[in-house]
Amino acid sequence: MSFPSFLSFVSLLSLLLLPFFFILSILLPLLFPTIIHHPYPPSTRKENKTVMLAGSFNPPHLGHFKMLQYLSQRFTKVYAVVGFNPKKTYPVPPSDRLTLLKSLTSNLPNVTPILVSGLIWRWASQNKISIMFRGIRTWSEDGRDENYLHFQNLFFPWFLGPITVPIKTFFLEGSKDTRHISSTVVRKLCEGDKIAELEELVGKGSGEEVKRFYGKKGK
Ligand SMILES: *[C@@H]1O[C@H](CO)[C@@H](O)[C@H](O)[C@H]1NC(C)=O
Repeated sequence: MSFPSFLSFVSLLSLLLLPFFFILSILLPLLFPTIIHHPYPPSTRKENKTVMLAGSFNPPHLGHFKMLQYLSQRFTKVYAVVGFNPKKTYPVPPSDRLTLLKSLTSNLPNVTPILVSGLIWRWASQNKISIMFRGIRTWSEDGRDENYLHFQNLFFPWFLGPITVPIKTFFLEGSKDTRHISSTVVRKLCEGDKIAELEELVGKGSGEEVKRFYGKKGK
């Protein structure tokens, strides 16, 4: 084989292989997602990385706190991202959820709660996030619901501007002692008057504040 034809053979081969690797780069993480189980692995020293935990935090509760506490111990900087769609109106606006999230994380100094509208992966790549975390109860309970978002995170950055290499998404299981807590349960409790019971889910001293936002209008 002459050298030029060898070159065109190589370029043809890589052209054929490119889609293959592209598909693998999406398929492999979807089939074998990285899940951090509870009890969380002990971290010996802080990883110098900025990470984020995105959710709707509607409202934030101790389950979220345990996750953010773990991330704050393991990484140097953590964003707690309240994601929202600017075209939607919410019974409890994202800004109120941000207020509650700030109270919840006030003793975690390297955790910064923030509102992000629109595509979270875009904000993440603009803000040099190393890992995007999603909180789940367990993979068997919530994994299926996470797959579409995970796919978007892996696929969209290649096509929607500004074009970037996708950021990893990791899934973080809730702490076993808070896994029974869900935002739905918290919202239900806000309709009643059992502040002590509510504080077992949202933290001591936070019951009144959560109820103020979710008591009447919360659905
Ligand atoms: C951590 O990373 C940042 C940016 O990547 C760098 O500027 C800083 O020096 C690093 N700090 C340590 C302690 O390695």
